[in-house]
Order: sequence, then C-alpha cells, then structure tokens
Amino acid sequence: MADLTAEQVQAMLDRFYPYKDRYVAHRTIPAEGMPRETVLDVVRTLAAEEDRLGDSGKVSSSLYLGDHDQYHFLAEVFEAFAHANVLQRDMYPSATKFEGEIVAMTASMMHGDDRTVGVLTSGGTESLMNPMLVYRERGRAEKRITAPEVIIPNSAHVAIDKACHYFGIRLLRAPLGSDFLVDLDWVRDHITPNTVALVGSAGSYPYGLVDPIGELGALAAEHDLGLHVDGCLGGFVLPWIERLGHPVPPFDFRLPGVTSISADTHKFGYALKGTSVVLYRDAALRRYQYFASPDWPGGLYVSPGMSGSRSGGLIAATWAALLTTGEQGYLDAAAAIYDTAQRIRAAVEAQPALRVYGDDPTFLIAFGAADGDDPVDIFAVNDHLASRGWRLNPDQLPAGLHFCVTRPNTRPGLAEEFARDLADGVAHAKAHAGEPASSGALYGMAGTPAGNAGLSFLLSGALDAMYAVPAPSGPPPTEG
Ligand SMILES: Cc1ncc(COP(=O)(O)O)c(C=O)c1O
Repeated sequence: MADLTAEQVQAMLDRFYPYKDRYVAHRTIPAEGMPRETVLDVVRTLAAEEDRLGDSGKVSSSLYLGDHDQYHFLAEVFEAFAHANVLQRDMYPSATKFEGEIVAMTASMMHGDDRTVGVLTSGGTESLMNPMLVYRERGRAEKRITAPEVIIPNSAHVAIDKACHYFGIRLLRAPLGSDFLVDLDWVRDHITPNTVALVGSAGSYPYGLVDPIGELGALAAEHDLGLHVDGCLGGFVLPWIERLGHPVPPFDFRLPGVTSISADTHKFGYALKGTSVVLYRDAALRRYQYFASPDWPGGLYVSPGMSGSRSGGLIAATWAALLTTGEQGYLDAAAAIYDTAQRIRAAVEAQPALRVYGDDPTFLIAFGAADGDDPVDIFAVNDHLASRGWRLNPDQLPAGLHFCVTRPNTRPGLAEEFARDLADGVAHAKAHAGEPASSGALYGMAGTPAGNAGLSFLLSGALDAMYAVPAPSGPPPTEG
C-alpha cells in the first residue's frame, strides 16, 4: 500500500463519522419513542449544515437543481404518496398514471415512437442493470447464448461492470482513442457469437462526451445485437443543449441501431433522488426484464424490475418535477449550464500546464496535465481548489479532474472565481512539485494487479467502517 500512512487511512475513516462526539450514536431502538421535535431538530440542523457546501455552487455534479423552493414543493408532492406502496396498484392507480406519463415524456424527449416503452427505476445503476439483464435473457432465448458477453467503452459507468458481475456476463472494456471516445475498430474486432450487446455513453461519467453512437448502432444492427445508450448523466441535458443549437452528436432513438436508453430523472431531470428511466425500442425487449411467478403460495406475483415494494411518493414527485419544470425550464437550465461549462473550459484552456480532455465537451469539462517533460500534479491543483471550497470529481487512468456543471454552478461570477482559483492552483502545484498531493493519496495506485488488489481491500474496508457506529472519544453526548 505504497505511500499511504496509517494516519492518512485513519483520517479518511474518521471523515465518515464526524458526529460521534456531538450526538448520541444509537445502537438500540430507544425504549420509548423520542419526541418528534427532538428528532426534527437533529435532522434540520444536520441538513442545513450539510447543504451549505452544495449551496455555495462550488460542487461538481451531485446536486443538479439547487432550488430549495422547488425541493419543498417536490417534498410536498412526495408527502401525499410517501406511504403508498405502488405494488398495490388497485389501491393506488394514480401511480400507473404518473409512471406511464413519466416514461412517455422521456421517450418523446428521446425521439421515440409509438413502439417505445420504458420503466421507472430507482436510479442510474438500476437503469443499467435492467438492460444488461434484458440482453442476457434475449441472447439466451433467441440465440441460445449461454456465455454472454457485453462490450463497453472503458469510460462507461462502472454500474455496467456491477451488472455483469451480478448477472454472470463477461465484460469487455474497449479502449478509448486519443479523443476519449470508444475505439470502434477494437469493438468491431471483439464481437463474437457470444456478444449480446454493445454500450455507448451520452455523455460519459469521466469526460461528459458522447460516444459514436451511430457507428456503434450500425455494428449492433449488422450483428443483431442490443445497443444500450447510457444517458443516465446526459439524457436530460443533452437534448436541450441540442435544441439550443449547440453541436451535440446524435445518440437517441433517431439512430436505428439504438435499442435502449437510460436517462436519470434524479440528475438533470431535477427530480428528487431515487428515480431514473430506462427506455426500450419495443415492448418485446422490455418483457425480458419482467419477473412473473404464477405458482407462489403468496399469490400471483409480477414486477417490472428489481424492486418489490416502491414508494408512490417518489413517482408522484418525479412526475411533478417534469411537469413544473417544463420544456422552457429545461431549456433555460441547459442554456445556463452550457454557458458556464464553456467558461470553465476557457479557464482550463488559459492554463498552458493543463489540457481539456476531448473535443467539444458541452456540460462537463474534464482536464488533466498537459503533455510535457514536467507535467503538473493535477491532484496538487485539486488540493488548492479544495482549500478554496471547490469539490471537483477526480478521474484516473489518466489522472484528471472533472467539473460536471449543474444549475447551482451557474450563478453569476462563479466561473470567473473558478478561473482565478484554478490559476492559483496551477501555481501551487508548481511550487510544491514532488510533494505528495493529499487529494490524490489513493490515486495512482490503480492500474496494476497489486495496486488494484490493494485498493479493493481498502475500499471494502472503508465500507465496513461506514457501518461501524463508533464510540465517542469523550463523554457520551446528549440529543436535543
Ligand atoms: C453516465 C452515468 N451512468 C450511470 C450512473 C449511475 O447513476 P446512479 O448513481 O444514479 O446509480 C452515473 C452516475 O453518475 C453516470 O454518470
């Protein structure tokens, strides 16, 4: 575990539990129920404190809307059905209306036709897991494929890796070209009789770029494969950027080879966390993700996806988010996001020590050290940015940072502030060349079998630590 001291590891673990000396850590259900006011007080205090960073507008991705009035409205809608279980549609047929309309509105945004269908899921990960299951099942049913393979760009979201891990699918990661887009020749050369699907991103998590979906679609059509477009991140912003007249490579159902698309309502759809849409070109594909059991002693059972019981509140709030934002709301947000992203891009391009990853990024700017004999340590640049309150997302292999611009980042003057802090960050990195950057402590380890094994061990240890409610270091605190 090169370079990582015990203190650094402990400091990282301590960050998971900053409240251990401030509030009671409950390990048993309290004997008597606590007063609502006491609980509300804790919740309100923590929420107000924790929202401060996001509300500063200096955070990449994560918070997409940043409008507390609208959050309040969505929470009001959520409240009306929060307790409703949509598995019981006889009691709550409103959920059928809301969910069907969310899918229809998303399909129309993606230029679907009257054959296009979909399902609401719990988030981007589930919207990627479902289509991977669908293509595995389709391969088995229609082509007798028992050892399915899926080819994805190396930049595709890791949730697809997780899906393949869960579903026993062999994953092939296609390398990227110097443009940070998938290498089509590699994909073509690795299609085998066991391939069930290809994947492209619109846009990719690390770079925000749109893979050559038209070409992937042609390959998919030629070999009768599925082509899933991961629009979890870009799905609710790229269509509006395109409508504004900016160049966006085609990626939706207008391309004949595209068979499914995921788009997250809980990202640029500006809904509450916990929803996403997965669309299929036709109902026959969607059938492969259904689960029906006619002979269970508990009764006839059918569910469209992985969840069993689901809250009607989230479905209603997602429907309300789409309706109240409206096309004009999405266009206005996309205009501001595009404009801010281009200013961020200009700020990076103004630094000869840095380079932007990829051509024509629209809403997400990824960057790293410019090529040269003595490249700056991008994580040292990040250390300085972090000290100024910025929270960018780290990329690795190659090392970099990305700024996924969302509505809270579009406030006037923010891009200019970023430009100044970035320039200072480059100066800081040069002045501290050779010193280890604290924000990059774990980066640089991946990419070798030993490094990957060490990192996996550490990451799993971090998860263990998150679930270990620690004892306070002093006298036990009180609540309220
Ligand atoms: C391109 C892309 N796909 C999938 C996901 C996974 O989404 P979620 O975190 O909602 O499961 C993300 C998350 O950032 C993403 O950027």
